[in-house]
Amino acid sequence: MEAQASASASAPAPTLAPPVVNAEYYKEIERARRYLRALISSKNCAPMMLRLAFHDAGTYDALTKTGGPNGSIRNPQELNHSANRGLETAVDLCEKVKRKHPCITYADLYQLAGVVAVEVTGGPTIHFVPGRQDSLSSPAEGRLPDANKGAEHLRLVFNRMGLEDKDIVALSGAHTLGGAHKQVSGFDGKWTEEPWKFDNSYFKELMKSSTKSLTTSNPPTGYSQQKPSSSAAGEDSTGRRLFIFPTDQTLIKDPKFLGYVMLYEQEEEAFFRDYAASHKKLSELGFVPPTLASRVITAVKNSSTMAKTAAGVAFATTAIAITFYYRRRSQREQE
Ligand code: HEM
Repeated sequence: MEAQASASASAPAPTLAPPVVNAEYYKEIERARRYLRALISSKNCAPMMLRLAFHDAGTYDALTKTGGPNGSIRNPQELNHSANRGLETAVDLCEKVKRKHPCITYADLYQLAGVVAVEVTGGPTIHFVPGRQDSLSSPAEGRLPDANKGAEHLRLVFNRMGLEDKDIVALSGAHTLGGAHKQVSGFDGKWTEEPWKFDNSYFKELMKSSTKSLTTSNPPTGYSQQKPSSSAAGEDSTGRRLFIFPTDQTLIKDPKFLGYVMLYEQEEEAFFRDYAASHKKLSELGFVPPTLASRVITAVKNSSTMAKTAAGVAFATTAIAITFYYRRRSQREQE
């Protein structure tokens, strides 16, 4: 980790240069993607990588244009926020990838890890655009959602990022992966029977829990709505508890959220489509993707000598062609 990575929110943080997103950078991204696939599979750490990506991006404030997917979660100060407990391991694992591919920014790396985590567990392909700039400035604690709260809180937090109801429900579907750990959040359990598989079972379990709450006493048998130690939690086939957070429960209590939950429970395809779109939005909060072409054109425009020469025009044309080639190639690989 960088030595100077502990800049506080109050002290002005040094500005880091944006990455130069050229053909070589795209190649490094593809190499890092392959490394991440192997690392995430061998370490069985897809859930924590996805949580890392969310926690780096989820601090975004659209009004002040602060926070967001900028790699600042690696700052010890931010990593120590209570919501980020347990993510040190994910940051350390990403550091291994960073050492092999040092030109890639942390901001890109964490978001790439999130995209790969969804992919290797069977989820939808999420289109990844590189070029995020690293920041050493961490936002004040308290921007991430609190699992003990309700619909109003969820909307406050996600609307602040610039995300809407559909994004909230689709992204909550990420809880199909992994679980909660007593030593991390105080909660203990998992949402689905197969926490290593990205599918729509989170919504199926949510809907089951709503049916159960209609027919059984509260808390519903088989599900814990609060900390499992204080309620009757059910067990899956491996003996681990299935549970839901109050924020998950909110999704079936609020009529607007419920509409999406019902859709995603019925149609996995709709969930995958919306999840991929919302995840992309999350991973690009506050990020204006640089294009090689626009950079080169700006450079050419700024250079009076070059702009006047045929060589300058030819250079710009070639750059645009290269950009389209790599964009198409990366899109084809995603399809
Ligand atoms: C909607 C508001 C959300 C709340 C309140 C919330 C809260 C939490 C909490 C408390 C944990 C348990 C951590 C632990 O004990 O290990 C957790 C786990 C997790 N969260 Fe969320 N989360 C939310 C949304 C999201 C989103 C949007 C994503 C990703 C797009 C996400 C991905 C995950 C994953 C994959 C895990 C499992 C981690 C593991 O098994 O190590 N969460 N979340």
